[in-house]
Amino acid sequence: MRGGLTRTFAVMGAVGLLAVSACGNSDESSNSGDQAAADKNVTVFTWWADGGEKAGLDGLVSVFKNECKDFTFQNAAVAGGAGSNAKQVLANDLAAGKPPSTFQAHAGAELGDYINNGQVDDVSNLYEEFGLNKAFPQSLLDNLTVEGKIYSVPANVHRANVVWANPAVLKKANIDATKAPASVDAWIADMEKLKAAGIKAPLATSKGFAEEMVMEVVLLAELGPDKFTGLWKGETDVNGADVTAALEKFKKILSFSNVDREAVDWPDALGYVNKGTSAYTLMGDWVAAQQLADKVPDSAYTYWPAPGTDGTFQYLADSFTMPTNAKNPEGTKCWLKVVGSAEGQKAFNTKKGSIPARSDAVATDYPKYQQAAMADWKSDKIVPSCAHGAACTLGQNDGILSAMGQFSGKPDVPTLQKALAAAVKPS
Ligand code: GAL
Repeated sequence: MRGGLTRTFAVMGAVGLLAVSACGNSDESSNSGDQAAADKNVTVFTWWADGGEKAGLDGLVSVFKNECKDFTFQNAAVAGGAGSNAKQVLANDLAAGKPPSTFQAHAGAELGDYINNGQVDDVSNLYEEFGLNKAFPQSLLDNLTVEGKIYSVPANVHRANVVWANPAVLKKANIDATKAPASVDAWIADMEKLKAAGIKAPLATSKGFAEEMVMEVVLLAELGPDKFTGLWKGETDVNGADVTAALEKFKKILSFSNVDREAVDWPDALGYVNKGTSAYTLMGDWVAAQQLADKVPDSAYTYWPAPGTDGTFQYLADSFTMPTNAKNPEGTKCWLKVVGSAEGQKAFNTKKGSIPARSDAVATDYPKYQQAAMADWKSDKIVPSCAHGAACTLGQNDGILSAMGQFSGKPDVPTLQKALAAAVKPS
């Protein structure tokens, strides 16, 4: 059914990955050592190193090559889902005063960390120059604006609360693949049925952020959008009984997942669904891009909003920055122009599974999945993702991720709830 995923995220350390990135991916790097040539380099730091994510990045690069002929793209991608390796490498580079020309950061709270640390420059003037104030919806501009200034250019909008399912596996347990279970409880009941039908791990998931995403959608479904959003702002009591009840359901769901979840990354979990070992994976819509890159036919999988979250679009947005004291600001400026442009967003998002951040995109230019996502983005209630930095800071996520690791090894709800309460407290 698919070409087979041969990812090695789980076994390679960040240092090894960087080496791969420097030697393997920088196919356009100058070998001459010539300073003038090096000055033309635009070093783009992301975690889009492979598969559908790399295909999206390649789309942006193809436009950059046309529009920014004076500059040379340098790929500084560090592999690992959701920046699991990249973020640490980036933090070290920034602390050492060696920023890339631009780096990927999530719009919202995560970007706030870089702003507060003085690591990114105000790019409001570029919004004027490139006409971006008119290109992006006001709600997104508001989300990006901090004390009247904007510090990045958004490339897309991704949806986090999506279940990707294998209809052939659901059929084995006589489950209707065309409809999402109506609630978390109904989803749990379906997982019981799948187990009884011989599917050992109905839900495929992976370490860290993927488990956090499962927890997030259960909290979202059980608490509702407003209470959910309040969790990360200190407005909802993390120690509340409703949170305890939701975490018990999360524990139950995790018990239906693959035992090797701590050793794999999200593309591997998706592979289990495509192979038929599992029925579902809960993952953001970069999955649509991965399926496209792996040529998995549309008929082999289906998708719906996570049970209990229909009508809610849990979003995150990738954006690119102008790092403070970066070497080639003119080159970065050209990259940001491409990122914000209609052509750049189309080249990127048609391949990345996301929808354009710009309001002027033509839906029919996009694959079927994105057309559906565009419609939902307009009609649904919009809620930020914590795991992908729209709602939560890097510090909050560090705490949550370590709680996830502990919970995956020893699923104890009171311990998890205590750790979450400590993690989300604003420092
Ligand atoms: C997210 C990022 C997405 C996608 C995903 C999986 O944090 O915003 O674009 O790359 O991680 O790696």
